[in-house]
Amino acid sequence: MDPWPFRNLVLRTPRLELRPDDDEGLAELVDVTLDGIHPPDSMPFGVEWTDAPRDKLGINTLQHYWRVRASLVPERWTLNFLVRLDGRVVGTQGLGADDFPILREVTSGSWLGLRYQGQGIGTEMRAAVLMFAFDHLGAVAARSSAFNDNSASHGVSRKLGYRPDGTFTQIRRGEPAEQTRLLLTPAAFRRPDWTLECGGVEPCLALLTGQEATD
Ligand SMILES: CC(C)(COP(=O)(O)OP(=O)(O)OC[C@H]1O[C@@H](n2cnc3c(N)ncnc32)[C@H](O)[C@@H]1OP(=O)(O)O)[C@@H](O)C(=O)NCCC(=O)NCCS
Repeated sequence: MDPWPFRNLVLRTPRLELRPDDDEGLAELVDVTLDGIHPPDSMPFGVEWTDAPRDKLGINTLQHYWRVRASLVPERWTLNFLVRLDGRVVGTQGLGADDFPILREVTSGSWLGLRYQGQGIGTEMRAAVLMFAFDHLGAVAARSSAFNDNSASHGVSRKLGYRPDGTFTQIRRGEPAEQTRLLLTPAAFRRPDWTLECGGVEPCLALLTGQEATD
């Protein structure tokens, strides 16, 4: 039995390959981070991690993804998929859950290097993890949220069928800023016109859903 079956998990879309993060891929992700994720005068993230000084950004990024990877249990997990286009890491698509064995809900979060944005990649990678969650994990809902001024993130959510589900306000760079919560059910999911290719799913299921395979 492989104690870390996520090393073999892969999701493939027409253009992209998504695999849970590993150290080699994270080194590439750090380079994407340093090349820029958003203009300096905007902040799309609820945690202002990209405001760290440049010489700290690399190690902060690595340590964040290591912490998340190391703490995965069925009751609380996030899989950070590294997203590759033509074999190169271009960003990350996270899929997470709290108490998935009982609640069967997932959350998502993502980002792409600036140069890869606005080409439909964000929609393609979110659709990939939604299909994985609904079709393979048996999720009954997917949740997300974004600042109201994040048109790209809201654009992705709108295209895939999410509906607004309330708001909350948080401090962003010292000022109040509103986020909108978003909710998607399998029935409302506007599926893309391609099918997802998955590999290595079965050995990962018990670690995510808490349920052992039946056959
Ligand atoms: C959010 C993000 C992952 C979206 O990925 P993307 O590849 O740029 O988005 P897509 O190209 O798939 O766009 C999806 C829709 O959003 C809309 N959209 C995209 N960028 C937009 C922009 N800058 N302004 C307005 N609308 C935009 C478009 O309507 C598009 O729909 P269309 O194909 O019908 O035109 C990416 O922009 C990103 O990494 N941004 C910085 C980090 C971030 O904001 N992360 C999310 C935090 S909640």
